[in-house]
Amino acid sequence: MKRTPEPELMETMEQAEAYDQADFSEAHGKRVDLFRERYGRELAGAVLDIGCGSGDILERFAKKFPKASFIGVDGSEPMLELSRRRMAKAGLSKRMNFVRAFIPSDDVPKQDYSVIMSHSLLHHLHEPSVLWNTVKQLAGKNTFIFVADLRRPISEKDVARIVEERSGEEPEVLKQDFYNSLCAAFTAEEIEAQLKQAGLKLKIEEVGDIHVLVYGAL
Ligand SMILES: C[S@@+](CC[C@H](N)C(=O)[O-])C[C@H]1O[C@@H](n2cnc3c(N)ncnc32)[C@H](O)[C@@H]1O
Repeated sequence: MKRTPEPELMETMEQAEAYDQADFSEAHGKRVDLFRERYGRELAGAVLDIGCGSGDILERFAKKFPKASFIGVDGSEPMLELSRRRMAKAGLSKRMNFVRAFIPSDDVPKQDYSVIMSHSLLHHLHEPSVLWNTVKQLAGKNTFIFVADLRRPISEKDVARIVEERSGEEPEVLKQDFYNSLCAAFTAEEIEAQLKQAGLKLKIEEVGDIHVLVYGAL
C-alpha cells in the first residue's frame, strides 16, 4: 500500500497529553533492551534524542544508564513541557536538557555524542532526509546511531487488524492515531533507499511484526 503522511508536529497540549497518557510500556520497555543488545557496552557520555516527545523513552534510558546525560529535542513546546515535568517528578532533571528545534535546524546542540537516537519520529517526517542529514551532521566517528520506528504493513486490511489486535481497548483517538502512524510509516526497503541517498552505512533490522531498527556507527 502507498504511504499516507500524517502531520509532522504534535503541537497542541491536548494532543501531547493524549500521546503522553497512552500505554507504551511494552514497546518502550523492550526498546531499551533492543538498544542495549546492539550497543553492547556501557553507556556513558551524552545522548541526543531527536523528536523526544513527552520523554517516556528518555526516562527509561536515564534510569537504565545512570552514567549518561541526555538532550531531548522536539519541535513541539507542549511535548517538551511534559518531558520537563516528567523528569522533575522522576528526579532526573539534572541529567536532562531539553531544546526546542524543528529539524532541519541549527538549534540542535552540537557536541561529542556517544549516542544519537530517535524513536517514532521518522514516520512523521514529510521529507525523511531531514533526519538522516541531521544524524550525518552531528555524529562523530564514535557516535552510535539508534533509530527505531514503525514499518508500514502491506495492506490497509493488515493495518486495521494490527490496530485491533494491539490497541483494541484503547480510546478511539489513540486507535486512529496508531492507524495513521502505520499508514505513514516507511518500509525497510524505503529506509534502505533513504540511507543510500544520504550516504549512511547503517544496519537495518526488522523487529517483530511492526518495527524496524536502524543502527551502527558512521
Ligand atoms: C510519535 S512522537 C514520538 C515521541 C517519542 N520519541 C516517543 O517515541 O515516545 C513524534 C515526535 O516528533 C516530533 N516531531 C515531528 N516532526 C519533527 C521535526 N521535524 N523536528 C522535531 N520534532 C519533530 C513531534 O512533535 C512528536 O513529539
